Amino acid sequence: MADTSEESHGCENEDKCTDNDFETSKLGTKEYWEEAYQKELETFKDIGDIGEIWFGEESMSRVLRWMDRAKIPEDAAILDIGTGNGAFLVELAKHGYKNLTGVDYSPASIELARNILQAEGLTDVTVKEADFLNSAGELGGFDFCIDKGTFDAISLNPDNNNECKKLYVRTLKEALKDNGIFAITSCNWTKEQLLERFCDGFEFVQELPTPSFQFGGKTGNSVAALIFKKVHS
Ligand SMILES: C[S@@+](CC[C@H](N)C(=O)[O-])C[C@H]1O[C@@H](n2cnc3c(N)ncnc32)[C@H](O)[C@@H]1O
Repeated sequence: MADTSEESHGCENEDKCTDNDFETSKLGTKEYWEEAYQKELETFKDIGDIGEIWFGEESMSRVLRWMDRAKIPEDAAILDIGTGNGAFLVELAKHGYKNLTGVDYSPASIELARNILQAEGLTDVTVKEADFLNSAGELGGFDFCIDKGTFDAISLNPDNNNECKKLYVRTLKEALKDNGIFAITSCNWTKEQLLERFCDGFEFVQELPTPSFQFGGKTGNSVAALIFKKVHS
């Protein structure tokens, strides 16, 4: 893989992260996602609609463009964390990636992803039901981990979300090989907050440009898309 490191970032203590007082929501519960994907599964079976593409098609294209530039090999082991309908896996497979795994804790999401992959003729993609936060020892050896909206959902968990966020970082470190890449797209966290959260054991590589808006004389971004590299900590 090409060395695309542009900048590094250090942190002292994950407990000092400035996102620790975030409000929780039902979007942080397994029940919410299971119900949502049950409905999307029925719709897919009825009319073939694959459902919501979180943050739009461009959110996948910008990561794929970065992967092209970074010359991520086609046989790289790629994990889509909280794969939902598996739409990112479909795009990755169409792009030529051959070693793809998606996990989600919602059984309906996994059934939907399987149905969609099958309809696309993509039978080599692995999708499995797994709670990412309780998968220690089960997920490992990945060159590339993708998260689009899953860390956001986990951060909204009404039960002990601070612990969940820390567990997420620990599980991610276990899932990735040394020098493995993590690509995260988030609508809840700013670049600065993500840099604080993914500081210990990760090196910041690059921010991917996302659409910006202006409000009250200030410019902001509705989503943040960042690339990190796992380093030995
Ligand atoms: C906002 S959706 C994004 C889905 C997908 N990544 C996409 O971009 O379309 C959040 C996803 O995270 C999954 N999720 C949340 N917490 C999870 C956990 N602890 N383990 C596995 N999946 C989880 C949900 O089931 C849901 O599919």
